[in-house]
Amino acid sequence: MSILPGTAPDALEEDDLKQYVADELARVRDRSVGLTTDVLDEAELLAQHSRLMSPLVWDLAHVGNYEELWLLREAAGVEAMRPELDDIYDAFEHPRATRPSLPLLRPREAGDYLGLVRRKVLDALERIPVAHAGSGLLDGGFVFGMVLQHEHQHDETMLATHQLRRGDPVFPGSDGLPAPSALLTSAEVVVPAGPFTMGTSTDGWALDNERPAHRVDLASYAIDTVPVSNAAYRAFVEAGGYDDERLWTPAGWRWRCESGKRSPAFWLREGGTWLRRRFARVEPLPDEEPVQHVCWFEADAYARWAGRRLPTEAEWERAASWDATTGTKARFPWGDEAPTDAHANLGQTRFHPAPAGSFPAGAAPCGALQLVGDVWEWTSTEFRGYPGFRAFPYREYSEVFFDQGYRVLRGGCWATDPLACRTTFRNWDHPIRRQIFAGFRTARDV
Ligand code: AVJ
Ligand code: FE
Repeated sequence: MSILPGTAPDALEEDDLKQYVADELARVRDRSVGLTTDVLDEAELLAQHSRLMSPLVWDLAHVGNYEELWLLREAAGVEAMRPELDDIYDAFEHPRATRPSLPLLRPREAGDYLGLVRRKVLDALERIPVAHAGSGLLDGGFVFGMVLQHEHQHDETMLATHQLRRGDPVFPGSDGLPAPSALLTSAEVVVPAGPFTMGTSTDGWALDNERPAHRVDLASYAIDTVPVSNAAYRAFVEAGGYDDERLWTPAGWRWRCESGKRSPAFWLREGGTWLRRRFARVEPLPDEEPVQHVCWFEADAYARWAGRRLPTEAEWERAASWDATTGTKARFPWGDEAPTDAHANLGQTRFHPAPAGSFPAGAAPCGALQLVGDVWEWTSTEFRGYPGFRAFPYREYSEVFFDQGYRVLRGGCWATDPLACRTTFRNWDHPIRRQIFAGFRTARDV
């Protein structure tokens, strides 16, 4: 039996859960190799393509070290294999800009290390009971889910590094676009006032910052049916939005003046037309594609220009997960079924967002589309813990980032794997960050 990625692990009994974990470990590693040693030579893997990012081979060895730390040492009680690696691949010890000067494993050495760790992990997986392990780390296979999500998150980070890289293209260009749904009947959907359940206490692979489930009461609001498109954002650019201080927060205006930015990252103006660079290819800007590579300040200024605002994180999650008629919450906008290509653009099946208005089968109960997949969506909310939050299994996953001015992003993007995506999943970043695959939709009070 093959289990679709993104299936709720709680539904699986011991043998199926072990098979799912083993299949998913193999699948994520194929993905990581496909983003590194399969496509770039040693020099490119060791190079720093941008000071904002790590050399790709750092990410690769880091996911192996994380897997060793959590699956072998913490969960299975296996002794450290290469204790000297812990410091090199500790993200808190060494900021990204300084990582090229570390004594990094060469690509071949990194591959050997990852392979060795993985063989021991598969041995441990056979030995250790997971579905009803009882202990926090192993129970329901949580620590396997955590390690799988971690590697997928780094794969997405590696794609952001690829986006900043110059050189010959290594990924396919724009093809396989689904046609946008013909009938976008309204630009916004109205969500009536009422309570809903935010976060989760039952999803076995949810990370600490998604917990616990708690009731939130919201006033009524309207939210865009689809993410803001390149054409809509270009209207803001061409209307002089970047020159109108009144549209920006004070910090946003400071960013705008200091950075000198006048359009999203990777946009180019040539003659009378807008082009954009995507993975080493320069192409005309596709009007109907959701805008990507805008920072929180830009999203916030656009919303003000449009007479609207960014949705709060709670408004986003309610629109994406809550069925008001039944009073139930779902793992995905369309329900609890694992994502397929009919529902959403996830999992790097193509290397770009799908046009705004795609995936009618993935609509949420409120009628909004593309809440999951395509582009991460900035929300107005600062990243902090839910009431009753407990760090698990380590403070550095989430807690140390609470109340530090990070903004929450929701929904995942085309590069996010279904296994690392659900309506409760919380991502966060600095409000100036533009290399991630982020766009937004807007909202208003009604
Ligand atoms: C949740 C995407 C913000 O990449 O900084 C990776 C995920 N945590 N390794 C990040 C993460 C530890 C994290 N984000
Ligand atoms: Fe990491």
